[in-house]
Amino acid sequence: MDRDVVDVVRDRYGALAQSDWSSRHEGVRAVAEAFGYTAEQLASIPAEANLGLSCGNPTAFAGLKPGEVVVDLGCGGGLDVFLAAAKVGPSGKAIGIDMTPEMIDLARQNAARSVDGKPIPNVEFHLATIDRLPLPDASVDCVISNCVINLVPDKRAVFREIARVLKPGGRAAISDIVLKKPLPRELASDWAAYVGCLAGAIGVDEYRNGLREAGFGRVEIVDTKADLNIYARVEPERGCCCGSLGLPLAQPATASCCAPPAAPEDTAFHHRMADRCDRYDFNEYAASVRIDARKD
Ligand SMILES: C[S@@+](CC[C@H](N)C(=O)[O-])C[C@H]1O[C@@H](n2cnc3c(N)ncnc32)[C@H](O)[C@@H]1O
Repeated sequence: MDRDVVDVVRDRYGALAQSDWSSRHEGVRAVAEAFGYTAEQLASIPAEANLGLSCGNPTAFAGLKPGEVVVDLGCGGGLDVFLAAAKVGPSGKAIGIDMTPEMIDLARQNAARSVDGKPIPNVEFHLATIDRLPLPDASVDCVISNCVINLVPDKRAVFREIARVLKPGGRAAISDIVLKKPLPRELASDWAAYVGCLAGAIGVDEYRNGLREAGFGRVEIVDTKADLNIYARVEPERGCCCGSLGLPLAQPATASCCAPPAAPEDTAFHHRMADRCDRYDFNEYAASVRIDARKD
């Protein structure tokens, strides 16, 4: 069961990494700005690093300092890794982890050629799941993550891994989706809602307790009040190729936005997501939160 969930998530995000979504796309930019990124931040990193998949801006509250080692869990195209790299500077390092090969390929391509045409030197990317991090114990100053932990079936394993890789006194700065109340059955059991960062989300208390049990003495979780319906609202071509919750149809890299879908299941996925967006107010059930946690 969990294996299936992970495979569906990898498949969908792999397709997205091969789409042509980027900060050049007005809707993608609008999603990022709605969740706290400034136009200047977006302009400072490769456009393809932003796929409009975030639900917050963790480097804005992580308090990163020059020389630190920071790890981004579920880094996608590298958006927060590149912003973190600028903050920790040449004496520090920003490491991205993602389980989707196409995302890691995209992030590495982005790192090879930044906005000035030069490679970004103090970053590295690893293909791995975040419940088994390929990093040594006590090797990291700060863990960040943006809209990913809700997608992982075993969240407690992720919390334990964050605690394991952090140095004593290290911290986590996480943006994620949490549930305010149980989802209607139709959404709770829906693959599309799971991939769209909703159906895998847990409540605030479960999140806080999970982090505390993993060894975080101080855990602060704050509702950012960001509008979760933004994903559907800002995509003008939503009826064309954008499922909702930031997920376009799987399509070959060469296909145009309105090209026929690659497979019948893509059409079904797309229609299901568009339908859920029309019928539900996601703000009623879920919230984007900012989580600050410090390891004992
Ligand atoms: C909603 S996207 C967010 C991407 C990025 N953080 C951003 O803000 O642009 C979720 C990302 O998490 C990755 N992901 C999902 N589950 C994962 C897991 N168990 N281990 C590693 N990566 C995972 C996906 O491949 C995808 O790139």
